[in-house]
Amino acid sequence: MAALPAILSPSLLAADFARLGEEVRTVLAAGADWIHFDVMDNHYVPNLSIGPMVCEAIKPHAGEALIDVHLMVEPVDALVPQFAKAGAGLISFHPEASRHVHRTLALIREQGCKAGLVLNPATPLSVLDHVEDQLDLVLLMSVNPGFGGQSFIAGTLDKLRAVRLRLDAIQQRSGRAIRLEVDGGVKPDNIAAIAAAGADTFVAGSAIFGKPDYAAVIQQLRQAIAAA
Ligand code: DX5
Ligand code: ZN
Repeated sequence: MAALPAILSPSLLAADFARLGEEVRTVLAAGADWIHFDVMDNHYVPNLSIGPMVCEAIKPHAGEALIDVHLMVEPVDALVPQFAKAGAGLISFHPEASRHVHRTLALIREQGCKAGLVLNPATPLSVLDHVEDQLDLVLLMSVNPGFGGQSFIAGTLDKLRAVRLRLDAIQQRSGRAIRLEVDGGVKPDNIAAIAAAGADTFVAGSAIFGKPDYAAVIQQLRQAIAAA
C-alpha cells in the first residue's frame, strides 16, 4: 500500500504559552507540517489547557498549516462548531467522551473539518467498527492523556501494527487512505520504530519545544522516519 507522506505535528502543550503565536511561526518555519492543539477540560482528563479562543488567536500565525485539534473533553459536541469557527482543520476526540460517536463524527465533517477518533492505551480497536467510513484519521495515544512529557508506552507498537492492517484493508476496499497518528512520548530515538509499526503522522511536544533548535530536532525526526 502506498504510504502517505509523513506529517509532523508539534504539540503546543510544550510551547511557551506566553509567546504562542511566535512559537507557531517558529516551529512551522523549522519544518513542521501541522500544529497539534491539545484541549483539556479537567473533567475527561485531570488537566486544563487551551480552548477555541486561543485557537482563533494562533490561526493567523499558522498560515496554510492545518490545526490538528485533539479534544480531551467531555462532552464533545458543543465545542466542535466553536473549534471549526476558530480555524481547526482536523478535530479528533475520544469515543468514551461522546454519548453518540457516529453523530459527533458527522458533526465534525458537517462543520467542514476532517474527523479523527482517539484511542487511549486501553481502548480496544473495536471502537473503529461501524465508523470507518467517517474517519480521516485514527490517533493512537502512546501515553495516557492529560500531560506532556510522559514516556512512550511500548505496547503501542503492536497496536499500531494492528491498526495499520485495518487501515490498509480499508484502503484496498475503498481507495480511501486514513491517516494513523501517534501521540505521547515520541522522540528522535523511538520515532523510527513507531514509523516502522505503521504510523504516518507524529505528534511531538517536549521533544521539539523542549530543545533550543526546533529545526535540528525536526530534521532528526524526519531522518529517522525516512530510515525506518
Ligand atoms: C497528552 C497530549 C500530547 C502531549 C504530547 O495528553 O495529548 O499531545 O502533549 O507531549 P509529549 O510529546 O511531550 O509526550
Ligand atoms: Zn495530543
